[in-house]
Amino acid sequence: MEDQVEEVKRKTDIVGLIGQYVSLKKMGRHHKGLCPFHAEKTASFTVNEELGLYKCFGCGAGGDAYKFLMEIEGIDFRDALERLADKVGVKLVSRKFDGGDEKRKMLEVMDLAARYYHWLLTDGKSGKDARKYLLERKINEKLIETFNVGYALPGWNNLTNYLIGKKGYKEDLLEKCGLVSRGKGVYDKFRGRIMFPLQDAGGKVVGFSGRLLPNGNNENEAKYLNSPETELYHKGRMLYGFFQAKQDIRKKKRVVLVEGQMDLISSFGAGVGETVAIGGTALTEDQIEMLARMANSIYLSFDADEAGIAAIKRAVGMAEKRGLDVKVVQIEGGKDPDEIASKNPLRWREMVDNAVDVYEFVIDSSMKRNDKEKVQGIKIITEEVAPFLSKIENSVVRDVWTRKFAEKLGVEALVVKDEIDRVRSGKTSQTEQINKKPVDAPTEGRSEKLMRRVIGGLLTRSSLRTKVRGWFEKVELEGAMGKALKYVCQHPEDSPLEILKGAQAELVEVIQEAYMAEGENENSTDKEVVEMAVQLLREQIRKEKKRIMEEMETARKEGRENEEEQLFAKLNELNREESRVVVLLG
Ligand code: UTP
Ligand code: MN
Repeated sequence: MEDQVEEVKRKTDIVGLIGQYVSLKKMGRHHKGLCPFHAEKTASFTVNEELGLYKCFGCGAGGDAYKFLMEIEGIDFRDALERLADKVGVKLVSRKFDGGDEKRKMLEVMDLAARYYHWLLTDGKSGKDARKYLLERKINEKLIETFNVGYALPGWNNLTNYLIGKKGYKEDLLEKCGLVSRGKGVYDKFRGRIMFPLQDAGGKVVGFSGRLLPNGNNENEAKYLNSPETELYHKGRMLYGFFQAKQDIRKKKRVVLVEGQMDLISSFGAGVGETVAIGGTALTEDQIEMLARMANSIYLSFDADEAGIAAIKRAVGMAEKRGLDVKVVQIEGGKDPDEIASKNPLRWREMVDNAVDVYEFVIDSSMKRNDKEKVQGIKIITEEVAPFLSKIENSVVRDVWTRKFAEKLGVEALVVKDEIDRVRSGKTSQTEQINKKPVDAPTEGRSEKLMRRVIGGLLTRSSLRTKVRGWFEKVELEGAMGKALKYVCQHPEDSPLEILKGAQAELVEVIQEAYMAEGENENSTDKEVVEMAVQLLREQIRKEKKRIMEEMETARKEGRENEEEQLFAKLNELNREESRVVVLLG
């Protein structure tokens, strides 16, 4: 398998692949474009064909063709591998990895079940009532196809008869898939329901949500029934409609978040293709993460009831951390997005476009519910709003909202600011403390930067490598970067690719980085590279001189004369070395 992973990667045209998402321009040895993973106006996203790598010097995203596909499509490694293998015509001999055969079998069963339900809905007599119901709710044939909607018959053994009786699958497997329940034998879990397949980011069916088809005598059953958590289905990582929406999300850089399956399909049908549904659960960090990779802002379209407001609160905290802008779609003229979008598509589109900033929403909704003419009202409003505003990290933005809030409330801005500062300083919650990045994260030192540029420059200029090869032999260069520089100098004849192939594992990444970064300095001249190398050399010599002088001082104080003398000799040698280096510059 390992070989096939390599083979597929080698055969993949990374520029062509990435070019489908980003418009790339050839510049020197690299291709460049605007990074698809963060918002930028100048191109710092670099793709290199020779090494099969991409790297963004703005946000740090980078990797090979697999990584790119995984990130941009939100899919896992296996899906990325299968897709690329397909593209380059490699037939994967074994898929025995990442879960292995059983997972594949489960996916097969889920896919068959979805097809079966879909067939029941769309073909012939048995799906008549369900079709009528969906049509009444404005779910047309096209939407049924797009979302692969289906229907589960009311009986107890329809799916089981089909999958076990006819197709020969085992009861255990169906149970693992969450499709059946166990009584005396096994029986269908979903009965008399409209079936919405839950697809992962790559489009594979991993679960179902089934809505009761009302028929008069089943009204006391749960309206929606969802698959249990299985090896395939993880509720907290599911975003219904993501597979269908991701292209639009990426294009529009925004995503509309709704509650239910019906909301999603109607919104999609109304032309808001960038919609996903969380399916009646609380939004999770994983879901935010999926969305943050593609969008800059999220539009929350939840009910404005208490639960909805709690959901908004949660979402703001998580979204802010990921740098996402949060807006709220104010739902008016219907009880949920589905009601509005199915009746009046245009109205729904406008409502989405007119979404308000989440802080405005929080302030307004609190003021609607409480009386600001009464002291008690003001107290409640402040208690509701201050915690929100206090969480805004950017102090300028926080100040703007603080003043808006004060104005709406009709009180002095300073008083409100005091209150918000009090909330801010008072309670930094534990999670916030945990999530805070350490302030002293190591920053790249000057000589590291210099080394990286020298390595990059040398990699692309083999003649210079010959010239400088002896220079760094006598000095100490620190860390992986230093080792990499020495290693590169020792191979004046090789191509960058050969150099990488021969490098120790710990050096590979450093060398790749340096090479990709060289794209930033493509038009530096040979002379500049030499100058940088000399500068680096001088700096290293000086560092060493300083260290030796310190050691000499200690040796002197402690009366170790012999040692002092040896150190002195070393120092002299370094001095000579330094004058030699200065000549190099000439
Ligand atoms: P709602 O009760 O608001 O239903 O639940 P809805 O989306 O308006 O559905 P329709 O219009 O009556 O068909 C919102 C979401 O919560 C989940 C479902 O995902 C639903 O879409 N839910 C609801 C459940 O999981 N179980 C339930 O019993 C009810
Ligand atoms: Mn509804």
